[in-house]
Amino acid sequence: MLLLVAIIVCLKVAAVVAQNTILDVLPNNGASALHDFLNNGHHEELVKFMSKSDATYTFFAPSNEAMAKAKLNSSNNYEDHFRYHILRERLSMEEINSKDRLRNSSYAPRQGKRHHAPYIIGTGPDGIWSFGGKHKIVKGDIGASNGVVHIIDHVLDMPGPAEMVLQKIPQTRDFYNQLKKLNMSLELFTHATIFAPTNDAITKLDEIEDPPTRALTLQHLIIDKSFNATSIKHSNKVVDNHGVGFNITHQVGSEINGIPVLIPDQIYDDGLIHVTDGIVLRGGLHQPDIPLPRPEDELSSRGNYKKPVLCL
Ligand SMILES: *[C@@H]1O[C@H](CO)[C@@H](O)[C@H](O)[C@H]1NC(C)=O
Ligand SMILES: *[C@@H]1O[C@H](CO)[C@@H](O)[C@H](O)[C@H]1NC(C)=O
Ligand SMILES: *[C@@H]1O[C@H](CO)[C@@H](O)[C@H](O)[C@H]1NC(C)=O
Ligand SMILES: *[C@@H]1O[C@H](CO)[C@@H](O)[C@H](O)[C@H]1NC(C)=O
Repeated sequence: MLLLVAIIVCLKVAAVVAQNTILDVLPNNGASALHDFLNNGHHEELVKFMSKSDATYTFFAPSNEAMAKAKLNSSNNYEDHFRYHILRERLSMEEINSKDRLRNSSYAPRQGKRHHAPYIIGTGPDGIWSFGGKHKIVKGDIGASNGVVHIIDHVLDMPGPAEMVLQKIPQTRDFYNQLKKLNMSLELFTHATIFAPTNDAITKLDEIEDPPTRALTLQHLIIDKSFNATSIKHSNKVVDNHGVGFNITHQVGSEINGIPVLIPDQIYDDGLIHVTDGIVLRGGLHQPDIPLPRPEDELSSRGNYKKPVLCL
């Protein structure tokens, strides 16, 4: 009789082990709130995705405290948002801690200009990030049948349009306000790199009197090509496909035309923002002779800023 009970218990344990997916391991590891939230009936596709047995995932799962802080609306659908927390590869704490890296998340929009291109997520020894702060792993390397789970202390912000991200990063809020004031839109750029001056640095812009030169100076901070910190670290210039751009030096960290990068690799939905300790100049302030776009041509009434053709 005792033997039979033992066998039944063993079978039950085996059955549980056989299906401890990245979703199943949450309740026993301080993430039952997330487990229940994902099973609330609004996330059936995602639950199916997470339950696949032939997949290999890394899941950055917000802790119970993180879920309480985030105050998510339980009648909304957060499938895309939590899919952004999942990678399609198995990543150990050791690999995460080895260095800062940008990786593809498992979330890719089905339409729009980033059609099918995955959103990027940052991982490194100081934590996991999209933009703003890095979020700590509070419990790592939780093995699951289809991958590994790391419990994090915050729900990651979902990358959005550049304007939204610039507005949300406290250090670049005034840069965002200047773009607005000059009726500039970043929507025309695809896969761009933005060198965003800090709030302190952007006050220098007021030294430029006429709005077209101010707009041109800001416009120069956007390179129509994506450069991550790793590629910046290993190159001596950052230029777009037309060869227009900046020189890079490497003294303390990386300097773009002499301006230090303070916070690299802030992720938005279509590229990267590097926060700089000054306005990176390419003409503008010191070259008043460059042909300037006329405001009536370049600043349309719709508020879109068209890219001036510039020959340096
Ligand atoms: C950074 O960009 C380089 C060159 O485009 C690419 O080879 C590399 O994989 C990227 N690194 C990360 C961490 O995304
Ligand atoms: C990330 O996604 C891009 C775009 O789909 C792809 O070109 C690249 O190879 C992917 N990188 C990795 C490491 O999977
Ligand atoms: C921006 O647009 C507003 C309204 O369309 C207009 O009043 C303002 O003069 C514009 N600013 C610049 C700098 O062109
Ligand atoms: C970048 O460096 C090259 C040569 O090293 C120099 O000719 C060029 O003027 C520099 N460009 C800027 C924008 O500083």
